Amino acid sequence: MSAFLLRALSLSLSLSLSLSLSLSVLCRCVCVWLCSRDTSVCVCVCVTSGDYCLTAGRDRLIKLWNPHTQLLIKTYKGHSLEVNSAEASRDNSRFVSGSSDKAVMMWDVATGQCIRKIRAHSGPVNDVRLNEDATIIVSASYDSTVKCWDLRSAQHEPVQTLPEATDSVPGLDLSGHEILTGSVDGVIRNYDMRMGKLRADTVGDPVTCVRFSHDNNCILAASLDGYVRLFDKDNGSLLGSYTGHVNSEFKVDCGLSYNDAIVAAGSEDGHLHLWDLVNGKELFKHQFHRNVICALSFHPKTHMHLNLASPQMCLATASIDGTVCIIKSPADVMKTLAKTESDE
Ligand SMILES: *[C@@H]1O[C@H](CO)[C@@H](O)[C@H](O)[C@H]1NC(C)=O
Repeated sequence: MSAFLLRALSLSLSLSLSLSLSLSVLCRCVCVWLCSRDTSVCVCVCVTSGDYCLTAGRDRLIKLWNPHTQLLIKTYKGHSLEVNSAEASRDNSRFVSGSSDKAVMMWDVATGQCIRKIRAHSGPVNDVRLNEDATIIVSASYDSTVKCWDLRSAQHEPVQTLPEATDSVPGLDLSGHEILTGSVDGVIRNYDMRMGKLRADTVGDPVTCVRFSHDNNCILAASLDGYVRLFDKDNGSLLGSYTGHVNSEFKVDCGLSYNDAIVAAGSEDGHLHLWDLVNGKELFKHQFHRNVICALSFHPKTHMHLNLASPQMCLATASIDGTVCIIKSPADVMKTLAKTESDE
């Protein structure tokens, strides 16, 4: 797609998204673009430096973008079904992807070549993660297992298989030597690989997204009862719950800001919701997409200050409607909305 067409499309899309808004003003704090015509985007990842963004979805392609110019930098082809997850290495030289074709692939960012393809699971791969030095891949699957792959080994077998879940595992996170999983069986499992310990906490409803807090003291989990909950990592006690969004059917993503002050979740009606982590109060809510927000990614380094106008990208969302949205500052979005309303 030509840059011009892309721009024209993104413009008409933004217009249709928020007709009542003064687009020229809003464009400074939000940009929305169409990543993939007629197909959903399941992945959007702010690459570690925050200057790039990876997207992927039903078109089986993984795309690297400059989110500031909305320029497509590179396309990675190789999966034979939709791509459900991706994560870049810390040095941004490689990334890993997981697909419904049951495979996990490792890519070289610069050359666009697939370095390693692993026939990882007997079902779709829901989520993938890389450890800190990009030597271990962890994959979670619809086949209800989680597997660890050592990239330094030439073996085709996983170095570890975690078979405890009794249903699909849509949610996965990694922190040091701990693996966190959320499963459709309604259980959050935290595996301490060094100590060989497992802590399991039952939520009841299917758990679709799990995240370690950045301070590594808490666990955030989204479940299909329409709640995002915060738990103490060590004893499982409930520290907070966040709701108001719609989440009963699809995997919507959740996340914590870099400073752990803000909880974010997508909604099945296309809204992004932000809450204060401590008191659970809703801070922000806006419909950036026309359909389910299936991926959400905070800028890896920028603190999100709701009261300060930050010029940097701070949060990216992606939707089944095929669009990706970069929100530079929710405070600016709020101000623009308030201004537009008072103008009318
Ligand atoms: C869990 O741990 C936290 C922090 O150490 C503590 O404040 C809380 O009382 C504990 N809850 C239970 C049920 O043990």
